Amino acid sequence: MSSSALTVLLNVAVPGSVLTRVRDISPRINVITEDEFRARPAWLSEADVLYTQRIAPDRVAAAQRLRWVQTFGAGVEWLLTPNLRQRDDLVVTNASGIHAQPIAEHVFGLILMFARQLHRATRQQAARSWNSEALQPSVTTLSGATLGIVGLGAIGRRIATIAGAFGMRVTALTRTSAGAPGVERVFGAGQLVPFLKEAEYVVNTLPLTPQTRGYFGPQQFAAMRSDAVFINIGRGQTVLTDALLEALRSGSIAGAALDVTDPEPLPADHPLWTMDNVILTPHYAGAHPGYVQRASAIFLENLARFVAGGELTNVVDKQAGY
Ligand code: OXD
Repeated sequence: MSSSALTVLLNVAVPGSVLTRVRDISPRINVITEDEFRARPAWLSEADVLYTQRIAPDRVAAAQRLRWVQTFGAGVEWLLTPNLRQRDDLVVTNASGIHAQPIAEHVFGLILMFARQLHRATRQQAARSWNSEALQPSVTTLSGATLGIVGLGAIGRRIATIAGAFGMRVTALTRTSAGAPGVERVFGAGQLVPFLKEAEYVVNTLPLTPQTRGYFGPQQFAAMRSDAVFINIGRGQTVLTDALLEALRSGSIAGAALDVTDPEPLPADHPLWTMDNVILTPHYAGAHPGYVQRASAIFLENLARFVAGGELTNVVDKQAGY
């Protein structure tokens, strides 16, 4: 292990307790706080380690001294520019894993809104309208319904486990065809159409990579059931928005619940805002009160390993994109 000084740059507002723990890891560490970085952006070219929220990716790629970047979120598509992917000397790790429970809860919130017509009931409430007859014919239960999960990472696996408590039948579409607890049937990547045909609820958890960009287009929406609800908590750009709009307008699917959109943020005049069969949440499905602590726990664990010359966890495959 080298004894040279290590400049650790924080581009995340962390509590004092995290700062103390960073310093406690090694006397070699010279920590630069978010405020200090903001006051002197040139710290980036002197840093060995960066713990960061979103930052201009080409600035990171150009920081020649950097050896490791820990991101505050799970998705890293914004960071992985061609310049950064070429940096073989630079390891990227992410915060994947900490989103599973909050996002799974968010997904079931959205599913229940559709099943129990809560989105329409709250619209009625805003209009002071008591109209049970308008809602009752569309009300369903989750029990017995098929939930199709696209991508069985930490989030997909958590959704699958919780679905069992509602008596749902769970299927999944994965690149590797590997199953998970609670998943009754796994479809491989070439079986998208039969997978989609079965599901009343299709949950898209895909990260954005060159392979997943525009993954859901006209053919995929055409393959879904007419009573299907499409839920996207992955990345907006995995969906061709015009194809989704067309499917929603024509009734070829029943509804959509979107935490992520393309474009994002959604412009004020976008038609999705006013559609009766659409629920929008502004990209916060992963939020929870312990987020900073949990993301920082991954960073601290990795920092200790980095200082000791060990293997890091949550390493991103820069070519695969996640
Ligand atoms: C993330 C997200 O990437 O919340 O962490 O979208």
